[in-house]
Amino acid sequence: MSKNNNIIFIGFMGVGKGSVAREVIKHSEYIAIDTDDLIESMENRKIKKIFQEDGESYFRELENNLSIWLEKSVKNTLISTGGGFYKVKNLKKIGTVVLLDSPFESIIKRIKEHPNAAKKLKKRPLLSDLEKAKELYDIRRPEYLELADIIVDVTDKSASDCTKEILKKVKKYVK
Ligand code: S3P
Repeated sequence: MSKNNNIIFIGFMGVGKGSVAREVIKHSEYIAIDTDDLIESMENRKIKKIFQEDGESYFRELENNLSIWLEKSVKNTLISTGGGFYKVKNLKKIGTVVLLDSPFESIIKRIKEHPNAAKKLKKRPLLSDLEKAKELYDIRRPEYLELADIIVDVTDKSASDCTKEILKKVKKYVK
């Protein structure tokens, strides 16, 4: 299973996909890209603005378009994704899917304890109502589990420990 030698991180908002990705690239030969960052630069506006001005369904279209490009053109890369990106049709063709998993309460605690907590909450439109976010989590978690080739429980683990676990588990899938 080569999947272009890519690793693709999925998982709920705030679980730490970006932080773990930054650690993985320090300890491997992967380069990292992030679907939210790519969308923001292609659109030249922040995710929050895209949601406000054109709505969530437009954002999902952008994710779908990006997924086609990722499958065709990206190799040997660690791809970090937004929490809803997993719904693209070709996810499993883009790379080895690694789920960063944690209970909802731990994810929210992690965000709130971050020095930039307010900013982290503000930039994520789907976290503005925590009750709705929990409902979304409950719908998504079984879907994440279903799609994952590798599951890493990141609860109370350092980015460095998560990285060791990921690189070990991923060896089986990536050349
Ligand atoms: C979303 C997650 C966000 C971002 C957008 C929608 C989602 O990314 O893509 O706000 O649907 O879960 P993070 O998972 O990096 O917060």
